[in-house]
Amino acid sequence: MTSTPKKRRLWLLNIIFVVVVGGVLLFLWNAPPETTPRLPNNENHQRFFDMDRKEAENFCDSCHQPDGIYPLPEDHPPTFRCLFCHKLPD
Ligand code: HEC
Ligand code: HEC
Repeated sequence: MTSTPKKRRLWLLNIIFVVVVGGVLLFLWNAPPETTPRLPNNENHQRFFDMDRKEAENFCDSCHQPDGIYPLPEDHPPTFRCLFCHKLPD
């Protein structure tokens, strides 16, 4: 069995495919871990765990507004829908 030029090209394509997929996987593997802090599991936050998310978000401001007991840092991302970004603790 002799390998025709056509077959050889197919091989090359397969190898390129494997290298590209491998590269993408490696890239995803190395991506930084999620950094958004989760809701703390404490009495300030526990009552929100079984609440509808949209309803719970009405309460966040009462403590996390600029003059609340725990203001957000100045470089905090846009704040609408807190619980899309901040997940509940495991
Ligand atoms: C009764 C006051 C209060 C309410 C209401 C409240 N928080 Fe907090 N929150 C705090 C305090 C105090 C801290 C900092 C100390 C701690 O970890 O509990 C905090 C910390 C956090 C943190 C930081 C966790 C970390 O690891 O840095 C997140 C995220 C957070 N709150 C999100 C929310 C969201 C979202 C809501 C609305 C669903 C909410 N909080 C409602 C008082 C409150
Ligand atoms: C677009 C995503 C997003 C939304 C929406 C969002 N946050 Fe955050 N929040 C983050 C990220 C990312 C950080 C970590 C910032 C950092 O470490 O500099 C953070 C940090 C925090 C912290 C911790 C600050 C600290 O000093 O540890 C609190 C508290 C917090 N968010 C509360 C809220 C509340 C309350 C809302 C809604 C009013 C909200 N977040 C909406 C992404 C979000």
